[in-house]
Amino acid sequence: MNRIPSADGKGLDRNLTLELARVTERAAVAAAQWRGRGDEMAADQAAVDAMRSELDRLAIRGRVVIGEGERDAAPMLYIGEQVGAGAGPAVDLAVAPLEGSTLCAKDMPGAISIVAMAATGSLLYAPDVYMDKIAVGPGYPKDVVDLDAPPAANIAALAQAKGVSPREITICILDRPRHAQLIAQCREAGARVRLIGDGDVAGVIVTAQPAETGVDMYLGSGGAPEGVLAAGVLRCVGGQMQGRLVLDSAAKVTRAAGMGVEDPKKKYALEELACGDVVVCATGVTSGPLLAGVRFDRGVVETETLVYRSSTGTVRRIHATHRAPPKFDID
Ligand code: FBP
Repeated sequence: MNRIPSADGKGLDRNLTLELARVTERAAVAAAQWRGRGDEMAADQAAVDAMRSELDRLAIRGRVVIGEGERDAAPMLYIGEQVGAGAGPAVDLAVAPLEGSTLCAKDMPGAISIVAMAATGSLLYAPDVYMDKIAVGPGYPKDVVDLDAPPAANIAALAQAKGVSPREITICILDRPRHAQLIAQCREAGARVRLIGDGDVAGVIVTAQPAETGVDMYLGSGGAPEGVLAAGVLRCVGGQMQGRLVLDSAAKVTRAAGMGVEDPKKKYALEELACGDVVVCATGVTSGPLLAGVRFDRGVVETETLVYRSSTGTVRRIHATHRAPPKFDID
């Protein structure tokens, strides 16, 4: 594994960790200016542009492995794009400049901007397809739940490990017709289901703090790129996750194979989604259970960012006040 030295000898340079916070802060501020305007594309483009220009100020030789699509589909931050100032360590990046673009366009809770950075080769090079996911937070026996087990078995196992009845377990699931059976099965097993409209990176992350968020487990299919980003966070906080790419057509299998996926049915463990040293930064765009959204107030812009670092397990919550009107540049 390509390990990037740091002054404290603990993997990825720790100053880079904090530098990365500026990247999501800037993207979140750009996206937040489009909150509630009903224009997802414009919000996403603003976040992409801001994130890209801020990434290019970092002293890294970065490669986007999870991005805004492939080269032809997205003008910027496409998979394989090189970013950074061109000097410094080689790193891989998973980016979601605006995760939950519909939430932002409708000014609904839970839109975030998020980036994971890791040593080259540490993040799954995942195609933009769905991924079946299961995730729980830290503190449970290894493999307490399993992607291939029925929902009722996972709920029973988690409830037993937590020392509560299945009725005290809450599962987060994306509110989609494809999940109708899954939702019914979870309820039949006695669990509560918290449905989210969008934003399953945060849907997975909230399992890491069940006491605060009330969510014990994430189940269902969402974007594979989002799965890798969420895995990066769980690596830092010690949760468990498994994922399987949904390659339900020959074309998807071929495309995935071209990206190095040899077994289309492979069940990925957390460490196979994101291994080695990982740092993740996430800034709120709209307020949600994880983060406060960007606040604009007469020439002052406030942001809230979570910074996760796997080598130490440190989680920082950074509340920043930026004073740089009128363009809201962040220094
Ligand atoms: P976007 O921000 O790209 O719109 O993604 C939002 C999201 O809800 C993700 O969090 C999730 O993984 C994915 O879309 C689910 O996809 P779908 O809306 O097709 O079910």
